[in-house]
This record gives sequence, C-alpha cells and structure tokens, in this order.
Amino acid sequence: MRARRSLEVVPPSDHQLALPLPSDLPQLTIEPEWKVQQRLWGHSFHPMCSYLASFPAALAHALIARYTRPGDVVLDPFSGRGTTPLQACAEGRIGVGNDLNPFAHILTAAKVDPPTRAEAKTRLAALRMAWTAGAAEWNGIAAAIAADPGSPDLLVPAAGSRPLDGAAGLSRFASFRADAFVPAEVTLAFHPRTLAQILFLRASLNPDDRADRFLLASLTGILHGKSATYLSAVMPNTFSMAPRYVRDFVARTDFHSPERDAFTLLDDKLRRLYRQAPPATRGIALLGDARDSGVRFRESLRARGLPEKARLVVTSPPYLRVVKYGYYNWLRLWLLGYDASAIDDLLDDAHHRDAYLIFMREVLSGLRSALADDAVIALVIGDVELDRGRPANGGVGLAEAVWEYAAAPEGYRLAGIALDDVAAGRKMTKIWGDEAGQATKLDRILVLATSEAGRRRAVSGASLPIDWTWPQRLPRAL
Ligand SMILES: C[S@@+](CC[C@H](N)C(=O)[O-])C[C@H]1O[C@@H](n2cnc3c(N)ncnc32)[C@H](O)[C@@H]1O
Repeated sequence: MRARRSLEVVPPSDHQLALPLPSDLPQLTIEPEWKVQQRLWGHSFHPMCSYLASFPAALAHALIARYTRPGDVVLDPFSGRGTTPLQACAEGRIGVGNDLNPFAHILTAAKVDPPTRAEAKTRLAALRMAWTAGAAEWNGIAAAIAADPGSPDLLVPAAGSRPLDGAAGLSRFASFRADAFVPAEVTLAFHPRTLAQILFLRASLNPDDRADRFLLASLTGILHGKSATYLSAVMPNTFSMAPRYVRDFVARTDFHSPERDAFTLLDDKLRRLYRQAPPATRGIALLGDARDSGVRFRESLRARGLPEKARLVVTSPPYLRVVKYGYYNWLRLWLLGYDASAIDDLLDDAHHRDAYLIFMREVLSGLRSALADDAVIALVIGDVELDRGRPANGGVGLAEAVWEYAAAPEGYRLAGIALDDVAAGRKMTKIWGDEAGQATKLDRILVLATSEAGRRRAVSGASLPIDWTWPQRLPRAL
C-alpha cells in the first residue's frame, strides 16, 4: 500500500469548472507548429510501440527547443512510451522519464538507454541460432497448447526465466523455472509456430540487459496489428481487444492467425528503428510513482554525476478515467510477464475530479525538489467531456482547476495556458468509437514555473521561433 499524504483541496463548483476559455487565466501563445509536422516527425525510435494517449514528439520539441539548452535536464514524471525523454536525448539534453506502469518503463528505458545497432543485431542473431537448436521442442509444446488452448496442465517457462547455462532446449528452461500456462486468448491470437518463437523469446530475453530490453520493447511493438509486419493479425496495433472478444471472434469466424517469423519481423523492425543513429546522450528511465519521483530523479542524476535539477518538465498526467493502461495492453503485458488487472489497480487513471486534483497536488509537491530555480513546467491536460460514455463530472476546465487547486497552493507561478485543439480524428481515444473519440476534446498546456524568473522565461520563450529541421544538424565537438 502506498502512503498518501492528505492534502486539503476545496473543490470548485461544477459551475466554475464548466467555464469555457477565455477564462481569467492568462493565455500563452505558443505557435502550434507541432500540429503541422509529419506524423512521424522526430527520432526513429519514437514509433517503437503504439501507446494510448501519447503526445507527438513534435510537441516535446516545441518546448525542449524553447526552454532548454544542450546539457540541461528534462523530466517527465508520467513518461508513457518515453516521448519527452527520448526527444530530449536526441536533442543533446539529459532526458529522464518515470512511469509506474512497467510496460511504459520498458519502452522508455529501451529508448533512452539503447544498445548500438550492432549490439542489437548481434543479440538477435545469437537468439536465432539458439532458437534453431531448440525449435523442435518449442514447436512441440506450442502444438500441444494449440490443440488444447488454455489448458492449465501445459506449463511453459515464465517470462524472463532464461536458461541457466545459456542452452536453448525447452527442458533447460523448464528445469529452471516452469510455472506458467498460456491463456487461451494468447494461444488463439498466434499461429502455433509463431507462438513457439514468442514463448522462446519471452523466456530468453532479460529486461535488465540493454540489448535484450530493446528487443523485448521492439517485440511489444510488432505483437499485434493489421499488416504482415505484425505477429498476430487478430487485433489492431493500437490496443488489445478484450480477451473475451478474441475468444468469441476466433470461434465465430474460425479465425487462424497466419504464420509469421518472429526473427525476420524483429529484424525488419530493428532496421526501421535504427534508420537514425541512437541519440548521443544517454538518458534515465525510472519505475515508480510520480508522487515521489522528485527524490528519485535527483538520486538517479547524482548517481550519474549529472546536474540534479531540471530546467524543464514536459508531461501529460493520466487523463480522468479515459484509458486503462493494463486492460488495453493485456497481450503486451502477458509478453512481459505482468498481470493487466494488477497494473490497472496500481495506476492513477481512474480518479474522479477531486481525487485527481489531490493526486496532482501531491505530484507537483513531490517534483519540487528536482526543479531548478528558473524551471518551466508544461502539463498537457485534456478536457474530458465523457466518462466512459457518460458526461464527465468536472472534466472540462481541468487545466484551470489543476492550476487553482494543485499548483498555486504548492507555490508554483503561472505563466499561462496554451491551447492545443488536437483534431479529434487523430486522437488515440478514437478507438472508443465516434462519440467516445471526443472523450478528450481539447488539450490545454498549463505552463508553470518555480519562480518569477522562470515565469518570465516561460512567457518570453513562448514566442521564440525554433528550427523544425529533423534530423537536427547538431554542432560537432572538436
Ligand atoms: C497520458 S500517459 C503519458 C503519455 C506520454 N506523454 C507519451 O507520450 O507516451 C499517462 C501515464 O501516466 C502513467 N501513470 C498513471 N499513474 C501513475 C503514477 N501514479 N505515477 C507515475 N505514472 C503513472 C500511466 O502509466 C501512463 O503511462
């Protein structure tokens, strides 16, 4: 059980919250050029795996370029798939991300602390050879599982269990640790020979090893989707269809996922990811609660001999009751060895407004110790008009409420609110259908500072023109 500080938040009335902009809070005009950039603008590692409610790398750039210089520290306490820290590292800043979701942590860590292209390719080649040596056994167990989907008697080596002596055969893994059966909906999602390769990779890859973690994160990105670049065709790549839906769909349509070679597709994925060289600056990825991320950010920076205080925070806190990061990623979480419902119990994505404001106040309080005297903090906060299909209570004007009831009481200064009316059609929340596609209609960027100097920096920097050339031509060291 995590300790929660009790903070007093006197919630505003719904009438106040329903006030549309222009409110009496200052508006900050940041030219929204990030909206006109190409969909894949930014470093080629960004699209490693889709992630619900992620923001574009171009948005991170709009703030990083204006408010930091090379060598500065940029933080994101809710890093998701690692957009902010990766883009920061790619621009010569020290990008530090934190997330409580282990799936988000693996994606962020893979991007900010990647292996070289050669290391990734060499490891994949070694895995392919080990697979070849043990393929008959793995194919045998996968065929037995496919013949009796969901059978609790057919155990497989757990995720990350790894053979003690580096050997490939299933028995080597099994004698080490065999304690998991494969749920029926997982079995039904793949061709048996593809499933065999996935079981082998799942057991072999070590998430604490740099090259393995990169391969594992890349594997989550090709696990399911509607083209031949994905390992299962049963669902789109944006999110996992419900397990029951998968079972019913397969039974109703007699669906059989086509055979796909995991090693070939992973190799193709690596080629796409390494279209650009990895960022020259190495970042940091932390796993934990945003409420105490400030202390952990400082400790991790100190341990690396880096500046301990950040000049910029770019983050989007979890939306009010819009995304269940566990449930909508259950197949990827199975690959990583996590239980999706346990992840949803852990995360702060199901709060109603008042609890959310208390949560945000605790986050801003906890962050303070890791921020420089003139730090700028950009919080991307979506208005939520619908709460799982019904009108949301207090979801509109949320950014204003976060300022009034979470940031101001913690002594932050307000630079202003910038609007980002993301076209509804491009939002990931579209997956809930047209009506729910409007769940977060308008993003507002609440721009805060730790001091008057920071506030002025935020206001004057907002109108600075910035370079949108990508890849950037960074000056070379002599
Ligand atoms: C809107 S997403 C961030 C997306 C990110 N900006 C990106 O581009 O990928 C919010 C994130 O908050 C995380 N989260 C939820 N509760 C948390 C908590 N208490 N501490 C840290 N992270 C949390 C979720 O796992 C999710 O990744």
